[in-house]
Amino acid sequence: MMANMARRRSAFAFAFMRLASCLMVSSVYGDYPHFSGRLGDQTQKFQELKASVFRRDMVSLAASPVAAGPQPGSPSPRVYPVTSYGADPTGDKDSTDALMAAMADAVQASGEGVLIEGITNLGGARISLEGGNYKISRPLRFPSAGVGNVMIHGGALHASDDFPTDGYLIDLSSNSSSPYNFEFITFRDLMLDSNYRGGGIFIPKSLRTSIDNCYIAHFTTNGILVQDGHETMIRNSFLGQHITAGGDPGERNFSGTAINLMGNDNAVTDVVIFSAAIGIMVSGQANVLTGVHFYNKATGFGGTGIYLKLPGNTQTRILNCYMDYTGIVAEDPVQLDISNCFFLGDAYVVLKSINGVVNGVNIRNNMFTGSGKGIDIVQLDQSSGPFKEIDQVVIDANNVNGMTARSTIARGSAKGNGTSWTVDFSSILLFSDLINYVQYSLSASGGSFPKHSLRNVSNNSVVVESDVAVSASVFVMVEQGKKLPG
Ligand SMILES: *[C@@H]1O[C@H](CO)[C@@H](O)[C@H](O)[C@H]1NC(C)=O
Ligand SMILES: *[C@@H]1O[C@H](CO)[C@@H](O)[C@H](O)[C@H]1NC(C)=O
Ligand SMILES: *[C@@H]1O[C@H](CO)[C@@H](O)[C@H](O)[C@H]1NC(C)=O
Ligand SMILES: *[C@@H]1O[C@H](CO)[C@@H](O)[C@H](O)[C@H]1NC(C)=O
Ligand SMILES: *[C@@H]1O[C@H](CO)[C@@H](O)[C@H](O)[C@H]1NC(C)=O
Repeated sequence: MMANMARRRSAFAFAFMRLASCLMVSSVYGDYPHFSGRLGDQTQKFQELKASVFRRDMVSLAASPVAAGPQPGSPSPRVYPVTSYGADPTGDKDSTDALMAAMADAVQASGEGVLIEGITNLGGARISLEGGNYKISRPLRFPSAGVGNVMIHGGALHASDDFPTDGYLIDLSSNSSSPYNFEFITFRDLMLDSNYRGGGIFIPKSLRTSIDNCYIAHFTTNGILVQDGHETMIRNSFLGQHITAGGDPGERNFSGTAINLMGNDNAVTDVVIFSAAIGIMVSGQANVLTGVHFYNKATGFGGTGIYLKLPGNTQTRILNCYMDYTGIVAEDPVQLDISNCFFLGDAYVVLKSINGVVNGVNIRNNMFTGSGKGIDIVQLDQSSGPFKEIDQVVIDANNVNGMTARSTIARGSAKGNGTSWTVDFSSILLFSDLINYVQYSLSASGGSFPKHSLRNVSNNSVVVESDVAVSASVFVMVEQGKKLPG
């Protein structure tokens, strides 16, 4: 219910955004006569900014020739090389203040053009880590919210030994009361080492954040935490608490969550999660996970690849993922798609009853490989109560090697000479005692032409009877997928 309301609010916010951007476009046209005036104003600010960046560039000229800066009079590129602010690229000295000074300068530049209402467009400003590795002792924050189109890129950050254990190396939080703190912030080509003190990146209430080619390690809370906001794209990245390539003797002790999505409409694409108790925790709606390889912690050691912790409308799509010894848990899933994934090492899917609802779930076209211990590919956890509202559940067309298939659609046959044929589907059907669709055909041998009928469908078995004894085969197809209360 809560989740539903959140979703509705977000749909409303979208409508408002679209309206706002229309208004802004028309106001730009409306301002056209004053354009030269504003441009002049802006040029002056540009000159001031350029001068300040240029002065800093002079300082770092010897160390970094590429950051030599523009010629006087040419337009200023908005690159803020952190060594120009005194950051120590060897990682020895604390660079927190220097990095924050670079971030502060970047966001104090004049804006141009339009982002969402309340967000100043910084026009592609870049805070460059210049390939250095910097030690920081406090979370890096922008001094104020309300800016966008800025990138932090190209280097490494590591937490000092006194970094606050509830902090994140990069933190986009703000006390701003605007709907969004930031828009279109990009983190690219970064290595973030939390030094077993807190998390990597915290993204609350932000829009269109991009995390691209980042390596986040040694977190104890979350590698990445996304809270509220929309459309964080996490792609081509690697996350792990411990740096390992599998078979780690300490795997039993892995903790933390690599990616925690507490917001809607985010995408995790082409990512590897190699160490964490939970790979991705999802408690927002309409998130998509695709091409993610999970080997964060084996199920046998208490790990979970993906945990969907939002009973009700989840609208999560898990596509083309590789669940490597670690599985998926979904609480009361409503609208969930798991398809074209590869489950290795007895990894399986658990549907966990909270309020007993499972609706609109597709688990199709996946491959499961196990060790022949008879582990079911899909399991029900009804420890908090049985599933009592079951609708539109389709588990079918999975291929299974060394595990036990479970399905909501099954086919079977029985052959014999007599008046009764029973096909028992209890070893394949997922839900106990639930069949709501049956189709059968009876093929009698010789010239016999008996009357026959479906006589009993109960306890996942189907009974067909004929009026006279005949030698016949009966072919049956059944479906589960619907049980509504009452
Ligand atoms: C929010 O305000 C509190 C109290 O003024 C302050 O301690 C805190 O640092 C602020 N947080 C951010 C993210 O600016
Ligand atoms: C796991 O942690 C426990 C408690 O900290 C420790 O005693 C044990 O040696 C650790 N195991 C491994 C395999 O690292
Ligand atoms: C089927 O069983 C009946 C008697 O129960 C027998 O008369 C008949 O020959 C059997 N038919 C076949 C094909 O075995
Ligand atoms: C159907 O089969 C079940 C289980 O064998 C049995 O308990 C039930 O009485 C049967 N129903 C009918 C109508 O024969
Ligand atoms: C229902 O099926 C299960 C599994 O085949 C079996 O153990 C159980 O005895 C059956 N119950 C009834 C009432 O027939």
